[in-house]
Amino acid sequence: MTATDISRPDRTDPLRGRVVAITGASSGIGEATALLLAARGAHVVVGARRRERLDDVVARITAGGGTAVATVVDVRRRDDLVALVDLARQRFGRLDVIVNNAGVSPIGPMSDVAVDAWEAMIDVNLRGTLYGIAAALPHFLEQGSGHVVNVVSTSGLKIVPGQAVYAGTKNAVRTISEALRQESEGGYRVTVVSPGMTRTSLASSMDDPAVRVQTQRAMDELGIDPSAIARAIAFAIEQPDGVDVGDVVVRPTAQG
Ligand SMILES: NC(=O)c1ccc[n+]([C@@H]2O[C@H](COP(=O)([O-])OP(=O)(O)OC[C@H]3O[C@@H](n4cnc5c(N)ncnc54)[C@H](OP(=O)(O)O)[C@@H]3O)[C@@H](O)[C@H]2O)c1
Repeated sequence: MTATDISRPDRTDPLRGRVVAITGASSGIGEATALLLAARGAHVVVGARRRERLDDVVARITAGGGTAVATVVDVRRRDDLVALVDLARQRFGRLDVIVNNAGVSPIGPMSDVAVDAWEAMIDVNLRGTLYGIAAALPHFLEQGSGHVVNVVSTSGLKIVPGQAVYAGTKNAVRTISEALRQESEGGYRVTVVSPGMTRTSLASSMDDPAVRVQTQRAMDELGIDPSAIARAIAFAIEQPDGVDVGDVVVRPTAQG
Protein backbone atom coordinates (compact mmCIF):
# COMPACT_ATOMS: atom_id res chain seq x y z
CA MET A 1 0.00 0.00 0.00
CA THR A 2 1.40 3.41 -0.92
CA ALA A 3 1.09 6.43 1.33
CA THR A 4 -1.99 7.70 -0.47
CA ASP A 5 -3.63 4.37 -1.37
CA ILE A 6 -6.44 3.67 1.04
CA SER A 7 -8.48 1.63 -1.40
CA ARG A 8 -7.95 -1.45 0.78
CA PRO A 9 -8.19 -0.10 4.32
CA ASP A 10 -7.21 -2.31 7.22
CA ARG A 11 -10.17 -2.02 9.59
CA THR A 12 -8.05 -3.29 12.48
CA ASP A 13 -5.21 -0.78 12.00
CA PRO A 14 -4.44 0.78 15.41
CA LEU A 15 -4.10 4.17 13.71
CA ARG A 16 -7.69 4.00 12.48
CA GLY A 17 -9.76 6.88 13.90
CA ARG A 18 -6.83 8.48 15.73
CA VAL A 19 -6.97 12.27 15.56
CA VAL A 20 -3.53 13.67 14.75
CA ALA A 21 -2.55 17.33 14.36
CA ILE A 22 0.67 17.95 12.42
CA THR A 23 2.57 21.22 12.08
CA GLY A 24 4.76 21.88 9.06
CA ALA A 25 2.55 19.55 7.03
CA SER A 26 2.81 21.52 3.79
CA SER A 27 5.98 19.73 2.66
CA GLY A 28 8.66 17.18 3.50
CA ILE A 29 8.37 15.10 6.65
CA GLY A 30 5.11 16.69 7.83
CA GLU A 31 3.41 16.11 4.48
CA ALA A 32 4.66 12.51 4.28
CA THR A 33 3.42 11.90 7.82
CA ALA A 34 -0.02 13.30 7.04
CA LEU A 35 -0.31 11.13 3.91
CA LEU A 36 0.81 7.95 5.65
CA LEU A 37 -1.32 8.38 8.77
CA ALA A 38 -4.40 9.29 6.72
CA ALA A 39 -3.80 6.28 4.46
CA ARG A 40 -3.90 4.14 7.57
CA GLY A 41 -7.21 5.62 8.67
CA ALA A 42 -6.18 8.43 11.00
CA HIS A 43 -8.03 11.76 10.90
CA VAL A 44 -5.34 14.35 10.24
CA VAL A 45 -5.41 18.06 10.95
CA VAL A 46 -2.65 19.77 9.02
CA GLY A 47 -1.12 23.17 9.66
CA ALA A 48 1.56 25.35 8.07
CA ARG A 49 1.77 28.83 6.53
CA ARG A 50 1.27 27.90 2.85
CA ARG A 51 -2.48 27.48 2.40
CA GLU A 52 -2.32 26.18 -1.22
CA ARG A 53 0.06 23.40 -0.30
CA LEU A 54 -2.08 22.40 2.66
CA ASP A 55 -5.17 22.37 0.45
CA ASP A 56 -3.30 20.10 -1.96
CA VAL A 57 -2.40 17.67 0.85
CA VAL A 58 -6.04 17.61 2.01
CA ALA A 59 -7.28 17.14 -1.58
CA ARG A 60 -4.99 14.15 -2.14
CA ILE A 61 -6.05 12.56 1.13
CA THR A 62 -9.77 13.07 0.58
CA ALA A 63 -9.51 11.93 -3.05
CA GLY A 64 -8.16 8.65 -1.70
CA GLY A 65 -11.03 8.31 0.76
CA GLY A 66 -9.18 9.60 3.81
CA THR A 67 -10.05 12.34 6.26
CA ALA A 68 -8.11 15.58 6.60
CA VAL A 69 -8.69 19.23 7.38
CA ALA A 70 -6.29 22.14 7.21
CA THR A 71 -5.78 25.48 8.84
CA VAL A 72 -3.10 28.08 8.32
CA VAL A 73 -0.66 27.93 11.20
CA ASP A 74 2.38 30.05 11.89
CA VAL A 75 3.92 28.28 14.87
CA ARG A 76 5.43 31.57 16.03
CA ARG A 77 1.88 32.60 16.94
CA ARG A 78 0.54 30.85 20.01
CA ASP A 79 -3.08 31.47 18.99
CA ASP A 80 -2.51 29.55 15.74
CA LEU A 81 -1.60 26.41 17.69
CA VAL A 82 -4.68 26.84 19.86
CA ALA A 83 -6.75 27.11 16.67
CA LEU A 84 -5.14 23.93 15.26
CA VAL A 85 -6.06 21.95 18.37
CA ASP A 86 -9.54 23.51 18.49
CA LEU A 87 -10.12 22.50 14.86
CA ALA A 88 -9.27 18.90 15.70
CA ARG A 89 -11.69 18.89 18.62
CA GLN A 90 -14.47 20.61 16.68
CA ARG A 91 -14.22 18.30 13.68
CA PHE A 92 -13.33 15.01 15.32
CA GLY A 93 -14.31 15.47 18.97
CA ARG A 94 -10.83 15.03 20.41
CA LEU A 95 -7.11 15.22 19.82
CA ASP A 96 -5.01 12.10 20.27
CA VAL A 97 -1.62 13.22 18.97
CA ILE A 98 0.19 16.45 18.18
CA VAL A 99 3.24 16.19 15.91
CA ASN A 100 5.38 19.29 16.42
CA ASN A 101 7.30 19.08 13.16
CA ALA A 102 7.57 22.62 11.74
CA GLY A 103 11.18 23.69 11.56
CA VAL A 104 13.72 25.94 9.88
CA SER A 105 17.49 25.65 9.68
CA PRO A 106 19.24 28.84 8.55
CA ILE A 107 22.52 27.34 9.73
CA GLY A 108 25.96 28.97 9.68
CA PRO A 109 29.02 29.49 11.85
CA MET A 110 28.66 31.49 15.05
CA SER A 111 31.21 33.95 13.61
CA ASP A 112 28.50 35.14 11.18
CA VAL A 113 26.67 36.56 14.21
CA ALA A 114 23.44 36.00 12.27
CA VAL A 115 21.22 36.96 15.18
CA ASP A 116 18.07 37.09 13.02
CA ALA A 117 18.68 33.48 11.96
CA TRP A 118 19.31 32.42 15.57
CA GLU A 119 16.04 34.05 16.58
CA ALA A 120 14.19 32.40 13.69
CA MET A 121 15.34 28.95 14.83
CA ILE A 122 14.45 29.69 18.45
CA ASP A 123 11.04 31.06 17.43
CA VAL A 124 10.05 28.20 15.10
CA ASN A 125 11.93 25.14 16.37
CA LEU A 126 11.74 25.81 20.10
CA ARG A 127 9.04 28.36 20.85
CA GLY A 128 6.76 26.86 18.17
CA THR A 129 7.10 23.40 19.71
CA LEU A 130 6.36 24.80 23.17
CA TYR A 131 3.25 26.52 21.81
CA GLY A 132 2.14 23.20 20.34
CA ILE A 133 2.65 21.49 23.69
CA ALA A 134 0.82 24.31 25.47
CA ALA A 135 -2.16 24.00 23.14
CA ALA A 136 -2.46 20.21 23.37
CA LEU A 137 -1.47 19.41 26.94
CA PRO A 138 -4.59 20.68 28.77
CA HIS A 139 -6.72 18.41 26.54
CA PHE A 140 -4.45 15.43 27.07
CA LEU A 141 -4.64 15.97 30.83
CA GLU A 142 -8.43 16.31 30.67
CA GLN A 143 -8.77 13.19 28.46
CA GLY A 144 -6.29 11.20 30.53
CA SER A 145 -4.51 10.29 27.29
CA GLY A 146 -2.60 11.86 24.44
CA HIS A 147 0.72 11.82 22.64
CA VAL A 148 3.26 14.56 21.95
CA VAL A 149 5.61 13.74 19.06
CA ASN A 150 8.45 16.22 18.63
CA VAL A 151 10.62 16.15 15.52
CA VAL A 152 14.20 16.99 16.48
CA SER A 153 17.38 16.05 14.57
CA THR A 154 20.56 13.99 14.47
CA SER A 155 22.21 17.43 14.43
CA GLY A 156 21.64 17.34 18.17
CA LEU A 157 23.35 13.94 18.51
CA LYS A 158 26.48 14.58 16.44
CA ILE A 159 27.34 18.22 17.07
CA VAL A 160 29.23 19.80 14.18
CA PRO A 161 30.46 23.33 13.46
CA GLY A 162 27.93 25.51 11.66
CA GLN A 163 24.90 23.94 13.32
CA ALA A 164 25.30 25.33 16.84
CA VAL A 165 22.00 27.14 17.22
CA TYR A 166 20.00 24.67 15.11
CA ALA A 167 21.30 21.76 17.20
CA GLY A 168 20.77 23.83 20.32
CA THR A 169 17.10 24.38 19.57
CA LYS A 170 16.62 20.69 18.75
CA ASN A 171 18.38 19.58 21.94
CA ALA A 172 16.34 22.05 23.98
CA VAL A 173 13.25 20.29 22.62
CA ARG A 174 14.85 16.90 23.40
CA THR A 175 15.47 17.98 27.01
CA ILE A 176 11.99 19.43 27.45
CA SER A 177 10.48 16.25 25.99
CA GLU A 178 12.22 14.02 28.54
CA ALA A 179 10.99 16.14 31.46
CA LEU A 180 7.51 16.25 29.92
CA ARG A 181 7.56 12.46 29.66
CA GLN A 182 8.55 12.05 33.30
CA GLU A 183 5.88 14.53 34.41
CA SER A 184 3.18 12.61 32.52
CA GLU A 185 2.97 9.90 35.18
CA GLY A 186 1.35 7.69 32.59
CA GLY A 187 -1.26 10.22 31.54
CA TYR A 188 0.10 10.83 28.05
CA ARG A 189 3.01 9.72 25.87
CA VAL A 190 6.02 11.67 24.59
CA THR A 191 8.22 10.73 21.64
CA VAL A 192 11.17 12.48 20.05
CA VAL A 193 12.05 11.52 16.50
CA SER A 194 15.52 12.44 15.25
CA PRO A 195 15.72 12.39 11.46
CA GLY A 196 19.09 12.27 9.80
CA MET A 197 19.60 13.63 6.30
CA THR A 198 16.19 13.51 4.61
CA ARG A 199 15.25 14.64 1.09
CA THR A 200 12.99 17.64 1.75
CA SER A 201 12.92 21.37 1.06
CA LEU A 202 14.54 22.22 4.41
CA ALA A 203 17.55 23.74 2.63
CA SER A 204 15.25 26.48 1.31
CA SER A 205 15.26 27.93 4.84
CA MET A 206 19.05 28.36 4.69
CA ASP A 207 20.07 31.99 4.14
CA ASP A 208 23.63 31.40 2.89
CA PRO A 209 23.43 30.43 -0.83
CA ALA A 210 26.60 28.30 -0.67
CA VAL A 211 25.37 26.39 2.38
CA ARG A 212 21.96 26.00 0.75
CA VAL A 213 23.37 24.52 -2.47
CA GLN A 214 25.80 22.24 -0.63
CA THR A 215 23.10 20.98 1.74
CA GLN A 216 20.60 20.40 -1.08
CA ARG A 217 23.23 18.41 -3.00
CA ALA A 218 24.00 16.29 0.07
CA MET A 219 20.27 15.73 0.65
CA ASP A 220 19.76 14.66 -2.96
CA GLU A 221 22.74 12.28 -2.88
CA LEU A 222 22.50 10.85 0.62
CA GLY A 223 19.08 11.76 1.98
CA ILE A 224 16.38 9.22 2.70
CA ASP A 225 12.78 9.66 1.61
CA PRO A 226 10.61 11.56 4.13
CA SER A 227 8.28 8.54 4.22
CA ALA A 228 11.00 6.80 6.30
CA ILE A 229 10.48 9.38 9.06
CA ALA A 230 6.71 9.14 8.65
CA ARG A 231 6.92 5.38 9.28
CA ALA A 232 8.86 6.01 12.50
CA ILE A 233 6.21 8.46 13.68
CA ALA A 234 3.47 5.98 12.78
CA PHE A 235 5.34 3.26 14.71
CA ALA A 236 5.40 5.41 17.85
CA ILE A 237 1.71 6.30 17.56
CA GLU A 238 0.46 2.78 16.79
CA GLN A 239 1.80 1.29 20.02
CA PRO A 240 -0.75 0.41 22.71
CA ASP A 241 -1.47 3.27 25.15
CA GLY A 242 0.78 1.76 27.81
CA VAL A 243 3.82 1.66 25.53
CA ASP A 244 5.85 4.84 25.11
CA VAL A 245 8.41 4.93 22.29
CA GLY A 246 10.68 7.60 23.75
CA ASP A 247 13.40 8.20 21.23
CA VAL A 248 13.71 7.18 17.59
CA VAL A 249 16.71 7.95 15.37
CA VAL A 250 16.24 7.39 11.62
CA ARG A 251 19.14 8.27 9.36
CA PRO A 252 20.63 7.14 6.06
CA THR A 253 22.73 4.02 6.51
CA ALA A 254 25.65 5.90 4.94
CA GLN A 255 25.37 8.99 7.20
CA GLY A 256 28.54 9.53 9.24
N1 LIG B 1 15.34 17.22 6.12
C1 LIG B 1 16.24 16.86 7.00
O1 LIG B 1 17.35 16.39 6.65
C2 LIG B 1 15.95 16.98 8.48
C3 LIG B 1 16.85 16.38 9.38
C4 LIG B 1 16.59 16.48 10.73
C5 LIG B 1 15.47 17.13 11.20
N2 LIG B 1 14.61 17.71 10.31
C6 LIG B 1 13.45 18.41 10.85
O2 LIG B 1 12.28 17.92 10.23
C7 LIG B 1 11.26 18.91 10.34
C8 LIG B 1 10.53 19.04 9.01
O3 LIG B 1 11.43 19.59 8.06
P1 LIG B 1 11.57 19.03 6.58
O4 LIG B 1 12.90 18.43 6.47
O5 LIG B 1 10.40 18.24 6.22
O6 LIG B 1 11.66 20.40 5.75
P2 LIG B 1 10.57 21.20 4.86
O7 LIG B 1 10.15 20.36 3.72
O8 LIG B 1 11.18 22.52 4.61
O9 LIG B 1 9.34 21.33 5.86
C9 LIG B 1 9.34 22.28 6.88
C10 LIG B 1 7.91 22.55 7.24
O10 LIG B 1 7.87 23.51 8.32
C11 LIG B 1 6.93 24.50 7.99
N3 LIG B 1 7.23 25.75 8.65
C12 LIG B 1 8.36 26.49 8.60
N4 LIG B 1 8.20 27.61 9.33
C13 LIG B 1 6.96 27.55 9.86
C14 LIG B 1 6.22 28.41 10.69
N5 LIG B 1 6.71 29.58 11.15
N6 LIG B 1 4.96 28.06 11.03
C15 LIG B 1 4.43 26.90 10.57
N7 LIG B 1 5.07 26.05 9.79
C16 LIG B 1 6.34 26.38 9.43
C17 LIG B 1 6.94 24.60 6.47
O11 LIG B 1 5.69 25.05 5.98
P3 LIG B 1 5.33 26.54 5.51
O12 LIG B 1 6.54 27.10 4.84
O13 LIG B 1 4.17 26.31 4.58
O14 LIG B 1 4.94 27.25 6.77
C18 LIG B 1 7.12 23.15 6.08
O15 LIG B 1 5.87 22.50 6.00
C19 LIG B 1 11.94 20.20 10.82
O16 LIG B 1 11.69 20.36 12.21
C20 LIG B 1 13.41 19.91 10.59
O17 LIG B 1 14.23 20.63 11.47
C21 LIG B 1 14.82 17.63 8.96
